[in-house]
Amino acid sequence: MEEVIRVENLRKTYGKTIAVDDISFEVADGEIFGLLGPNGAGKTTAVECLQGLRSPDSGNMRILGIDPVTNIRALRRRIGSQLQEAALPDRIKVWEALDLFASLTPGSVDWQNLMEQWGLAEKRKSSFSSLSGGQRQRLFVALALVNKPELVFLDEMTTGLDPAARHTAWDLIRAIRDQGTTVLLVTHFMEEAEQLCDRLAIVDHGRIVATDSPQGLITTYADKIKVIFSTDVEDISWLEFLPQVNTITRRGQRVEVEGNGPVLAAVAAELAAHGILPADLRTEQPSLEDVFLAITGGTMHE
Ligand SMILES: Nc1ncnc2c1ncn2[C@@H]1O[C@H](COP(=O)(O)OP(=O)(O)O)[C@@H](O)[C@H]1O
Ligand SMILES: [Mg+2]
Repeated sequence: MEEVIRVENLRKTYGKTIAVDDISFEVADGEIFGLLGPNGAGKTTAVECLQGLRSPDSGNMRILGIDPVTNIRALRRRIGSQLQEAALPDRIKVWEALDLFASLTPGSVDWQNLMEQWGLAEKRKSSFSSLSGGQRQRLFVALALVNKPELVFLDEMTTGLDPAARHTAWDLIRAIRDQGTTVLLVTHFMEEAEQLCDRLAIVDHGRIVATDSPQGLITTYADKIKVIFSTDVEDISWLEFLPQVNTITRRGQRVEVEGNGPVLAAVAAELAAHGILPADLRTEQPSLEDVFLAITGGTMHE
């Protein structure tokens, strides 16, 4: 696979603050690659360096084969950047913003198409300040795509959106990738990273602590599976003898078994052998939250 981003030992400090300590990763053509980490981890600083918006203290970067430190003009033509909230004047209309951005980029796409594709046609004459959060996000994405980028940077695109708007935004991000554009997604939402990313890097205190597919990370770092069911049978201590079972916690009728490997099948078979057939037997899969906890010892949210 072709490499769209290569970052080696990137470092960026602000005075005494080490925002990006030592970051290295690669992104292949056509991936949705995520940088996932808590607020203040250094994600935005890192992607701003990649886009040539900040100069790093040290490290090597190649974006589409271009060094953003020395050749930002060539790079800008080929990447799309999501704007920050304050970047558009309140009174600019949707169509004016698209038209303006298109006029700044030679070889840009037909913005009328983009406007329809991103569900903004009805809002074409509305001012930016009158748009809902979700509509603003869609406009930012449309603007980031005006120059037909090969790679698009989306930084906390769904922050501030309600759950319905967030799910719509996820579909839009998948649509970008399906049209052949590589996506670098910055987020502090675990579920978002889990749902969208082909691969992701977990960032903490300016460093990448793990890189893999969401499922790969879960398999490596959080292989503990919970099996949950209810029963009024008092003594179930025989479950402890199963090799797949680590601990059993009981609260009233609710039993939580923590184990590994095929623990669900083992517990189900053992329960059935004792004549217990719980209707609510289920597993709880570990999430990226558990991965983060296992690696860093902390939680993602303050
Ligand atoms: N322009 C800046 N000047 C000084 N410190 C900054 C600046 N931007 C970010 N920082 C600091 O750098 C660290 C990383 O911030 P940031 O890259 O925004 O992280 P994230 O995007 O993961 O939330 C934080 O401690 C933040 O306070
Ligand atoms: Mg940020």
